[in-house]
Amino acid sequence: MITNPTPTDSVLTNTPPPKLGLYIHIPFCLRKCHYCDFFSLSSSPESRTNYINYLVNNITSFPSSPAAPHCNNALVDTIFFGGGTPSVLSPNQLNSILTALHSTFTISPSAEISIEVNPKTHADYSALKSIGFNRLSLGLQSDNNAILKHLGRLHTAEDFFAEYNIAQRYFDNINIDLMFGLPHQTLESWQSTLKNIINLNPAHISTYSLIIEPGTPFYNQTLTLPPEDIERNMYYTASQTLAQAGLNRYEISNFSHINKECKHNLKYWTRQDYLGFGSNAHSMVNNVRYQNSSELEYKTSIEEVVTPSERVKEQIMLGLRLSCGVLITPKIQGKYGDALRRQELLGNLKITNSHAILTPRGIDISNVVISEILNFD
Ligand SMILES: C[S@@+](CC[C@H](N)C(=O)[O-])C[C@H]1O[C@@H](n2cnc3c(N)ncnc32)[C@H](O)[C@@H]1O
Ligand code: SF4
Repeated sequence: MITNPTPTDSVLTNTPPPKLGLYIHIPFCLRKCHYCDFFSLSSSPESRTNYINYLVNNITSFPSSPAAPHCNNALVDTIFFGGGTPSVLSPNQLNSILTALHSTFTISPSAEISIEVNPKTHADYSALKSIGFNRLSLGLQSDNNAILKHLGRLHTAEDFFAEYNIAQRYFDNINIDLMFGLPHQTLESWQSTLKNIINLNPAHISTYSLIIEPGTPFYNQTLTLPPEDIERNMYYTASQTLAQAGLNRYEISNFSHINKECKHNLKYWTRQDYLGFGSNAHSMVNNVRYQNSSELEYKTSIEEVVTPSERVKEQIMLGLRLSCGVLITPKIQGKYGDALRRQELLGNLKITNSHAILTPRGIDISNVVISEILNFD
């Protein structure tokens, strides 16, 4: 068991315990979608059982791993089961992983505990709630059945709406994943998807622009994609329509009602410590990055020690994704102040007393803006 904070520790030191996020990767899907390069496989019941045994063992032996000393006294305030499709596992299997986490870490009673769900797995939402999940992320992508079919999704829009209807009886913190810039998607069809999803009043919506990833079936196909100006228009439409519905953009691709931001993902964008368990999962603890290999019986290796100058670069890269922008620390001001001012003059950044924030124009070319800032001399 990791040395846990006690009330006496807090009283004596008067400092709150350090916070920690946990990510659990479940590398199984019912079937691979044509666009997706996340590490996931179809699986047999036996391979799922073997994986859970391996994962549980890896979690409970964490106190003897190199990262453990830096997690002493940490209070886990977010847990995220991602994939793949974690809802491929039964509630009992998911519970055995949660039990391993509880026996290894101190988990805050108010921790955000999320799970990614695919509508076609017909999850038992009541059981998910009772074993401790309090946030769901449902993958829809589009509510147009022809588009869903072309994406290689196994569910229809009707399947999704039926699942959502059950899920919202148990969960008040639900995210819906949507995608735009999809083959055969028109601006009108995207607007209709947004409208229909807003009617469900979810706490959170993620909208991802399709990335054609090497190694996926889409990579080798000739796709009929919306032109770039329409794709950008889809993004503006989402920002405006969702804001009108009270879902404000807090990160380039993420929108939520007030206080319903994904606390776990915010850790990545603000460079807070997190541990990843499972195939292909990453960790960052005390400025050391670890990487698990992409196999079911994965191994963990140290990827890199993040140097102070790389930390500043990461702060800029990640912080600029957030709507509140990146805090201009003395280090950022010293090394990147001129670069930030240049981007402000170009109309790509707004600089306040304390923060640099991408403008709408800067968001459209965020990769270029960030690379120009980091390479400016
Ligand atoms: C790891 S998946 C988990 C969701 C769940 N497995 C499902 O699909 O129902 C998380 C999300 O990433 C997004 N995504 C995956 N591949 C993408 C790509 N190539 N381009 C843009 N978004 C992508 C999809 O919106 C997907 O719902
Ligand atoms: S999008 Fe989700 S269901 Fe589809 S392959 Fe990726 S992880 Fe699996």
